[in-house]
Amino acid sequence: MRIYGQDIDEKKLPAHVGIIMDGNGRWAKARGLARIAGHEEGFKSLDRLLNANKEIGVRVITIYAFSTENWKRPPAEVQFLMGMAKKMIVDYLDTLLRNDIRFVMTGSFEGISADLKEMILGAMERSKHCKSYTLNAAFNYGGRKEILDAVRRIAADCSGGKLDVSKIDEKKITEYLYSPELPDPDLIIRTSGELRLSNFLLWEGAYSELWFTKKYWPDFHPRDFCKAIADFQKRKRRFGKV
Ligand code: IPE
Ligand code: IPE
Ligand code: MG
Repeated sequence: MRIYGQDIDEKKLPAHVGIIMDGNGRWAKARGLARIAGHEEGFKSLDRLLNANKEIGVRVITIYAFSTENWKRPPAEVQFLMGMAKKMIVDYLDTLLRNDIRFVMTGSFEGISADLKEMILGAMERSKHCKSYTLNAAFNYGGRKEILDAVRRIAADCSGGKLDVSKIDEKKITEYLYSPELPDPDLIIRTSGELRLSNFLLWEGAYSELWFTKKYWPDFHPRDFCKAIADFQKRKRRFGKV
């Protein structure tokens, strides 16, 4: 199909795209605005993408919304981001339901307020019948924390006699991660010009193709998303083979 100026083979779409939505603060700063204005604009960018994706057709999108390291930001910004998460669930869940998008979260509830946790679980419950798309929010997420949590639960199950050490393999470890039912991301996009993963999907992204743009997240357009997919489709993935 020809879409947003790109030729995309709809039979070879990435099954799962991860997005490190970075640069909200710098977008705002460049306009003389407070960082939080950048987060608000970043939300509009996400809405634009999900809307366009109804035509593009990527089944699973994971957005990096809040990392385990983001707690180190000024308390007012952390509070604002937690408030935005609540607002997104209150104001946006109906849009997700209308578009048949299932909402899931990958991350830890440690440190998350009881009311926000309840809202997230409620949104997951209310959207679990949606089959067309999955929006996975990496929220209070860190790749190392995810692996650490898995290791602890595996160790507990081993010492409790529920799991035999000889049964621990890569597949078993995946089962103990936050979202074992999702495919690994085929493609990871990062905006804002930074060339790093910042603790995003470390286990799952072992063989992801990486795509970077200098654009700040609020300026990211479905055109850029389609360019990333078109570039992805030209890559030769070898998975260690020749
Ligand atoms: C990404 O934008 C959004 C979150 C981390 C929540 P930033 O807030 O990191 O923006 P920059 O990188 O400071 O410009
Ligand atoms: C990564 O962005 C986290 C999110 C996009 C939520 P950061 O802005 O926190 O990453 P660093 O600090 O530049 O590595
Ligand atoms: Mg950043």
